[in-house]
Amino acid sequence: MKILIVGGGGREHALAWKLSQSPKATIVYGAPGNAGIEKIGKCVSIKADDIKTLADFAQRENIDLTLVGPELPLTLGIVDEFETRNLKIFGPSQAASMIEGSKAFAKEFMRKYHIPTASFQIFEQKDKALNFISSTDFPVVIKADGLAAGKGSIIAQDFSSAEQAINKILVEKVFGEAGSRVVVEDFLEGEEVTIMAFTDGNTIVPMVSSQDYKRAYTDDRGPNTGGMGSYAPTLFINERMMKKIQEEILEPTVAGLENEGRIFKGILYAGLIITEVGPKVMEYNCRFGDPETQVVLPLLKDDLLEIFLSVLEEELDLVDINWKDEFCVCVVLASAGYPGKYDKGIEIFGLDKAEEVTVFHAGTKTTNGKVVTNGGRVIGVTAVDKNTEKTISKAYSAIEKIRFKGMQFRKDIGRKATKVERKYF
Ligand code: GLY
Repeated sequence: MKILIVGGGGREHALAWKLSQSPKATIVYGAPGNAGIEKIGKCVSIKADDIKTLADFAQRENIDLTLVGPELPLTLGIVDEFETRNLKIFGPSQAASMIEGSKAFAKEFMRKYHIPTASFQIFEQKDKALNFISSTDFPVVIKADGLAAGKGSIIAQDFSSAEQAINKILVEKVFGEAGSRVVVEDFLEGEEVTIMAFTDGNTIVPMVSSQDYKRAYTDDRGPNTGGMGSYAPTLFINERMMKKIQEEILEPTVAGLENEGRIFKGILYAGLIITEVGPKVMEYNCRFGDPETQVVLPLLKDDLLEIFLSVLEEELDLVDINWKDEFCVCVVLASAGYPGKYDKGIEIFGLDKAEEVTVFHAGTKTTNGKVVTNGGRVIGVTAVDKNTEKTISKAYSAIEKIRFKGMQFRKDIGRKATKVERKYF
């Protein structure tokens, strides 16, 4: 089968890596891809949100299956466009992708279907939002309604920072139309855990739990990023908690979406806070997480392509999905300055020397035969082992062999799995 992967980050390289292990896969294309995907298959320079050109390419090249990494093409309706042209594509429709595309939609949906989440209010006008905030407890979470590349959620510790956030979103419109509404919600205390699940709209199969490190610097300091590392599985989810998540969150979400005429087929991502009173949804995504995919897929024993095909055939119930009883950690190597401004085109050395790990490329490209930086998050060094400590040291030893000017990374990725003070079972 000829496979097209839309996107060009670490998540897409991990998908290409796993899919290319399937005996059914003949060639994997990345659009636009990166230097890592190029080593496995071929890159085509089409942007991930250029839906028509992607569909033209899939038609021309007789692509058998397209798979979408990022949220933007999904919310723009790439699945609908491909299906209209009878092209096979894995992912939710535009209508179902609303669960990620609009925070206000997602919150109202959860209220309607009694899915546990923080209490909230939605505002279009600054004065009304501020009036509400003036009588609320802090911290409070302020979210732009639409897609904001992971930057649209602000935790305000006091009235003045809440006012600044509201101004940024509703008045200065720093996120454009994504900021025409804000969701103001209670801050939830607890551990943040990612649960991704395969679903064909009927059957739901959760993957192993994972955690993403969002802050830029070691010990959760510094600004928010797209994710500086991840690990799986977490110690916060046992079988009983997973059952609760399945029954109280995943099942009502998929059933509720169907009831709304928005059948969800693809990867349902539940960003959860495990609170003292149980799991609550912080956010939904309509796709694989990045960098969670880089630690979940190496633990999957089975053929990912077969799983995708079973979702498309609505036969997920017939597939057996198994996970390795091992630990996986991914440490992101980022450009100097990230998540602020950074340079590109800096040569990366030592990638071939990192032998005991899998190196997932994110912002990289090949120029004159050399691999150079091409984004903020550059490389995800991924290690798997039975022993947690050994996995972490494998990843960090490999990092010592890789270098590029200004390379920065967190020193504590995976540590939460070795010293958990409190479990939430
Ligand atoms: N890791 C968070 C996300 O993929 O949105």
